[in-house]
Amino acid sequence: MSIKVENLTRVYGTTRAVDGVSMSLSDEVQVLALIGPSGSGKSTLLRLLGGLEVPDKGSVSIDGEAVSKSESELRSYRRKNGFLFQSFNLFPHLTAMENVVLPLTAVHGWTGDEARARALDVIRRFNLEHHSEKKPGQLSGGQQQRIALARAMAHDPKLLLLDEPTSALDPEMKAEVLDLVEELCQAGQRIVLSTHEMGFARQSADYVVFLAEGRAVESGKADQLFENPKTAEVKSFLARVMKW
Ligand SMILES: Nc1ncnc2c1ncn2[C@@H]1O[C@H](COP(=O)(O)OP(=O)(O)O)[C@@H](O)[C@H]1O
Ligand SMILES: [Mg+2]
Repeated sequence: MSIKVENLTRVYGTTRAVDGVSMSLSDEVQVLALIGPSGSGKSTLLRLLGGLEVPDKGSVSIDGEAVSKSESELRSYRRKNGFLFQSFNLFPHLTAMENVVLPLTAVHGWTGDEARARALDVIRRFNLEHHSEKKPGQLSGGQQQRIALARAMAHDPKLLLLDEPTSALDPEMKAEVLDLVEELCQAGQRIVLSTHEMGFARQSADYVVFLAEGRAVESGKADQLFENPKTAEVKSFLARVMKW
């Protein structure tokens, strides 16, 4: 995906959450990982790229098209993307199946039959058919997150944005979610994710951006950045997170 970001800035009160970020990714990049310490601006940048948030300054364009700043145009841009957050955000009173079906009918305008057929496909692909009639409260965290991922990509999003998709999960549940994300990467899905899973970022992302205090301090191909970081910030970050 070609992503061009110029001087992107988002300020909350006195906090410069994203502070003049520029980057230009070529079409060869399919999976982009945002890494960096807590509070460095990963979620804000992800939300700006997905159109959930409007920048105070600067611009984003995806595949040569500028992401609009008008709310009505942003709404249609946002609908083309898929989102998954740290906490699963499923509707508690709906079954797993209904959670996947509802956005397809309510947001994307599919008929009930189309939506159910598609939801079943995705649920099968993710090996969740045994859980499709359960409500979120009857599912483990990993299963809930897999349902949330099924929901995020059921409408075949142009861009799938994952914000620390495994950080609320126990280790073995992280693995089951990361395996699915990996499968989507292999299948050619375009993904931007923020993550603390350095092993996963290194293996699955083509390109990595390291943020600190809202700035893109270093970026590059995943192999290069992890094996041969250039800046002291990335070196010390990696030394800290790889320690345990
Ligand atoms: N809605 C908000 N209101 C006020 N401050 C925010 C808001 N969202 C993020 N921030 C602040 O912006 C900075 C970057 O946050 P965030 O993008 O969530 O970083 P990360 O995802 O890397 O932890 C932090 O200092 C955070 O407290
Ligand atoms: Mg975050």
